[in-house]
Amino acid sequence: MKTTLVVSYLPSGEQSFSKKLLDRFLDKSHGKTKIVHRNLLKNHPPIFDEVSLEAYRARNYGGQKLADHHSKAIKPFDELVSEIKAADYVVFVFPMHNFSLPGVVKTYIDAVFFHGELFQYTATGPQGLMGNTKAAILYASGGAYEPGNPYNVVPPVLDIDLGFAGFGEKRYINVGGTLGGPDGLAKSLEAAQTQVDKLVADWYAA
Ligand SMILES: Cc1cc2nc3c(=O)[nH]c(=O)nc-3n(C[C@H](O)[C@H](O)[C@H](O)COP(=O)(O)O)c2cc1C
Repeated sequence: MKTTLVVSYLPSGEQSFSKKLLDRFLDKSHGKTKIVHRNLLKNHPPIFDEVSLEAYRARNYGGQKLADHHSKAIKPFDELVSEIKAADYVVFVFPMHNFSLPGVVKTYIDAVFFHGELFQYTATGPQGLMGNTKAAILYASGGAYEPGNPYNVVPPVLDIDLGFAGFGEKRYINVGGTLGGPDGLAKSLEAAQTQVDKLVADWYAA
């Protein structure tokens, strides 16, 4: 059975519209994939400091063997890198904050996008190493953003980052207008749930 890594940041708890999409995804995919849950609300990803960044540069760009203090500093990053590399599918779930991903989700991306692991530079240019992995991004936003609206920077940022790492697919599913009127919201939620159902059908078809 293939593995799906769910990377979530859901600070609104049961009120969360992003969580409604995740619950739908988990319900529909039940028994079809092994779920590994990386809960960024409960366990914050590490941030580079002087020691861990020095270790990363020395090992991942310099090919050096690390001293104990460097190995210790980079270990929390390595655990996250191994986890995402082992996944066949990755589902990111979060609210839109300030037109973009919440900072902790970007911190997670910064913690796992390791040279030599998710991408590498070659003589002919950069190469993504996540080629067989598919990603879905489930997110709620207070406003409703038509495709290409420049105020919604979630797709452009992740298109660049996930694209650089070579993800085979990036599918965005948005519940928009959660702070708007109930009719528009109901329609938006229903449309997003239908897209989640299709995602599950496409990904886990026998
Ligand atoms: C700190 C913060 C910043 C937000 N920034 C935006 C924003 O820039 N654009 C927007 O449309 N909604 C924004 N919202 C509204 C949320 O995206 C909206 O409430 C959404 O439903 C949150 O997702 P959730 O229901 O999964 O918690 C913001 C909410 C918070 C708490």
